[in-house]
Amino acid sequence: MDRIRINGGQKLNGTIPISGAKNATLPLMIASLLTDQPLVLDNVPRLADVGLLQRILGNHGVDVMVSGKRLGETQYDGQTLHISAANVIDTTAPYELVSRMRASFWVIAPLVARLGEARVSMPGGCAIGTRPVDLLIMALERLGAAIDIDKGYVIARAKNGLRGGEIKFPKVTVGGTHTALMAASLARGTSVIENAAREPEIGDVADCLNKMGARISGAGTSRIVVEGVPKLSGARHRVLPDRIETGTYAMAVAMTGGDVLLENARPELLQAGLDVLTQAGVEIASTNAGIRVTRNGKGIAAVEVTTAPFPGFPTDLQAQLMALMTRAEGTSRITETIFENRFMHVQELARLGARIQLSGETATIEGVERLKGAPVMATDLRASVSLVIAALAAEGETMVNRVYHLDRGFERLEDKLSACGAAIERISG
Ligand code: EPU
Repeated sequence: MDRIRINGGQKLNGTIPISGAKNATLPLMIASLLTDQPLVLDNVPRLADVGLLQRILGNHGVDVMVSGKRLGETQYDGQTLHISAANVIDTTAPYELVSRMRASFWVIAPLVARLGEARVSMPGGCAIGTRPVDLLIMALERLGAAIDIDKGYVIARAKNGLRGGEIKFPKVTVGGTHTALMAASLARGTSVIENAAREPEIGDVADCLNKMGARISGAGTSRIVVEGVPKLSGARHRVLPDRIETGTYAMAVAMTGGDVLLENARPELLQAGLDVLTQAGVEIASTNAGIRVTRNGKGIAAVEVTTAPFPGFPTDLQAQLMALMTRAEGTSRITETIFENRFMHVQELARLGARIQLSGETATIEGVERLKGAPVMATDLRASVSLVIAALAAEGETMVNRVYHLDRGFERLEDKLSACGAAIERISG
């Protein structure tokens, strides 16, 4: 298993190119199941999760071709996927695959909408909480699917196709909204999704579905209306930039000090995160090329933050902000409202010298003057990268174990950071 070694204390200066968003790429790839024509996705990040989803789609009979570089492309350009679900040979998504990546459960929506049946393993729990799928099932039922649970599998049937309906989510859910959008696109009649997730990735998927011939309006607001169509066609779509990768590197620069341009980043995708950094004393400037993050000389001010669905402060940046606050002047408080158990990074940050107290869903962080390197490991993607941020400012060497978590969601992390002056390297084996 690969590890990452970091020697802390270097400022970050230079340019970091921001990749396409993982959490848009995954549902976009799944949307390919809605049509027998090819879907072409540009700016797809090279991530372990993308590779795994390729395998999962392959199991259904979907062809995925990754095209080579074109002349003039730099090594930072994302890949282009040509996806064809012309021949779906299997409507079952087995436990061995779904349990490795929760988002793969979402194949249930296009499969039942286009082929009238799907048999998809329940994903099970994961390191950040229980994460049930009851609301996804409710959405499919509202669109006329008959649901059975058998031997750990959710079986959805709609022999005569889905029909439009009203879906009112009692709680904002990203996966529930993706599921509802995909299923409603091929349902007969009009569907209304109330209390829909407003995350930018929902808007990106809706844009792509509309290019495929869907009739979706209101994506990006909490009320989405979908007029079902009998058939969707192929399309070409460019994945939007990753706001969580953007926020992560912004916090890394805030942590070490320095001056970095986050190339291709779009401020409107993470205004709440940028506002918190400004409050912490970091300079943020939007330019045509991206977002410039600067901290020179000044210390980090303590903040109080509560995670919330978009446009609130994202849970996917909670661990990274906590790493930053370990060095703040004063006491910070971070409350996690989305996932009940997303604090696995706390005890690992403590190994580096952080002072954090947990009480229910709130962490109280007392800023310290110094962190010291140590061996650490983490149990999920965002927790792992929070340890990298802390290590960049810690004295001496930190070895981050279980790097496969990082590879699920950060493309060439060590290359991007070392190009800006960090002492970071991957140790294979
Ligand atoms: N929930 C239910 N029932 C459901 C579905 C969700 O109770 O049927 C609850 C969840 O347990 C959670 C809340 O609703 O408490 C919100 O969960 P949501 O459905 O929005 O999460 P998700 O769709 O499973 C996506 C991202 C996560 C991100 C969350 C929240 C992808 C592939 N995943 O997950 O990203 O944290 O939305 O923004 O888009 C990550 O990238 O590291 C990651 C975990």
